[in-house]
Amino acid sequence: MSKAPFYITTPIYYPSAKLHIGHAYCTTIADAVARYKRLTGHEVFFLTGSDEHGQKIQRTAEAQGVTPIEYVDKIVDSFKELWRRLEISNDDFIRTSEPRHHEVVQEVFRRIQQNGDIYKGEYTGLYCTPCESYWTEIQLDENGCCPDCHRPVEKVSEEAYFFKMSKYADAVLKHIEENPEFLEPKSRRNEMINFIKQGLEDLCVSRTSFDWGIPVPGDEKHVIYVWFDALTNYLTPIGFLDDAERFKKFWPADLHLVGKEIVRFHTIIWGCILMALGIELPKKVYGHGWLVINGGKMSKSKGNVVDPMLLIDEFSADAIRYFLLREIVLGQDGNFNRDALIQRINADLANDLGNLLHRTLNMINKFHGGELRETAGLTELDESIRAEAVATAKEYRALMDDMKISDAVKLVWKFISRCNKYIDETAPWKLAKDSTQAQALANVLYNLAESLRIIAILIEPFTPSTARKILEQLQIDNNFDIIQFTDAEIFGRLEAGHRVGKPQQLFPRIEL
Ligand code: MSP
Repeated sequence: MSKAPFYITTPIYYPSAKLHIGHAYCTTIADAVARYKRLTGHEVFFLTGSDEHGQKIQRTAEAQGVTPIEYVDKIVDSFKELWRRLEISNDDFIRTSEPRHHEVVQEVFRRIQQNGDIYKGEYTGLYCTPCESYWTEIQLDENGCCPDCHRPVEKVSEEAYFFKMSKYADAVLKHIEENPEFLEPKSRRNEMINFIKQGLEDLCVSRTSFDWGIPVPGDEKHVIYVWFDALTNYLTPIGFLDDAERFKKFWPADLHLVGKEIVRFHTIIWGCILMALGIELPKKVYGHGWLVINGGKMSKSKGNVVDPMLLIDEFSADAIRYFLLREIVLGQDGNFNRDALIQRINADLANDLGNLLHRTLNMINKFHGGELRETAGLTELDESIRAEAVATAKEYRALMDDMKISDAVKLVWKFISRCNKYIDETAPWKLAKDSTQAQALANVLYNLAESLRIIAILIEPFTPSTARKILEQLQIDNNFDIIQFTDAEIFGRLEAGHRVGKPQQLFPRIEL
């Protein structure tokens, strides 16, 4: 049976500085979704990358006495290293400085220009260099600064190319209004509807004041506006220019996952570009909230950035992934706090999950020489844990399909707590002392091992390395290229006679 394709993207990150935990948040969510989709039998294409052009990068490189490409090469290596360590399972990494991407951007520009939707004119406007954004007078904040980053804007006047956004405004508005699933959550949708209703001007899509960018075809003193260049990255690796079949398979993208401040670019500007190209819009743009520190945005200037690499060194990638996915409700802002992270590691990972695995394997080894036995004559309690496992997998699927990731995490941990309670209720150490209870003991131990097998599959999208470790200790093949979600939907896959391994600690407790 051919697998349904699923194309998911993160934004491509600016290599203007090292990535912080807020960037890692965005990529971790996308990774959890990508892994879940693979488990549920989709052919996933998961894309992330780097957005390398623009005046800001050029200026930073100059200040450091290196060329832009020398400067970005080093930083992009650090992105790749972070994603590797965080176990991000992206299928490709697009760099906007790559020739494959230049070709696509120039072709997109050319096609829109040939249709008459890109024209030459004179641009005078207010530009925020750090955000690479033009603003109109009314959009500025109360100090006359950039409404996003609140830094001063510059007045620029130059010959430039314009994209006829105004021509597509009504069509994009209609698309947003008529397709509620196109833009989520709802709050973002309302923002964008109001934004378009205020009126869209044509967009300036070229600059002449610097040259670190993709030249306008046939007029090389202009470089293409960095957002026009960046958004087009989503078309580059799926065969837009060179593989029509592959392009048809993966486009329209199933999900562009982006931070809330760039929803405008991904729905309105990107929507207009795609309409001008005569290409379908992505199926969904999801605008997530920000990770904040004590209620404020993380920024280099505030000196409150949290380096994800150091956190991984200290606590492990899975602990960080778990915290981000569990603590922050997708779509809302969430606070990053070191003490809260440590508490989650201790309570949920070391205690609830770690102890469940440890106690279960310990008892199977101690009472049954590491072997699972045939079950028979189940009690109501035994039946209820089995029913809850199956119900958990079912509800989990519904939540994940609905992007309720933190709820899905909580649901699995509710089942983990249920299993721990089952141990306390059945007291296998007492059953082991009573020879008339041999079958009851076999039933409990089997149910626990089987529940752990199911838990391991359900947590793989969140904490992949822990999932593999649990299966390894249960001595079950832990290759997630083969394991499917359906393996978690059926209770009773483990065979009597299966031998489990010795327990090994999953997460050490952290002293506060
Ligand atoms: N280069 C553009 C995206 C172009 S996509 C065609 C860009 N880059 S960025 O590096 O500034 O941001 C990338 C993503 O990181 C954005 O989705 C942004 O919302 C996200 N985050 C940056 N700081 C964040 C937090 N503190 N919290 C959550 N996400 C954050 O924008």
